[in-house]
Amino acid sequence: MYPPAWLLTRTVTQDTELGGKPLLAGTTIAFSPYLIHHRRDLYPEPDRFDPDRWLNPPDRSAYLPFGGSARKCIGDRFCEDLPQPCEH
Ligand code: HEM
Repeated sequence: MYPPAWLLTRTVTQDTELGGKPLLAGTTIAFSPYLIHHRRDLYPEPDRFDPDRWLNPPDRSAYLPFGGSARKCIGDRFCEDLPQPCEH
């Protein structure tokens, strides 16, 4: 719920759009795993210590302690192989 990397960035490599907004190549965008982990529609009571929340986890794309996409942390799979309490 409290990702060490609470803010990550990406550089847009070609003109595109996101959520209907144009994004020009060269633009730096930021996204926050912390804020995603605190979306109450995904994680009710995000500040409460609740290991049981992982019995029915949201979609993997809504849990980003290791970032995501092509630049995702290579330690992610290593951590998944550890016992569950170590992951969270
Ligand atoms: C609890 C442990 C760790 C956390 C929370 C963590 C978190 C992260 C995060 C958030 C990123 C940026 C991902 C992105 O921009 O989407 C990253 C990148 C990276 N991590 Fe980790 N990491 C951890 C452990 C490790 C370990 C054990 C290794 C190596 C064995 C590792 C190697 C890397 C590398 C090489 C990158 C750069 C990937 C790239 O830019 O292509 N990390 N990590």
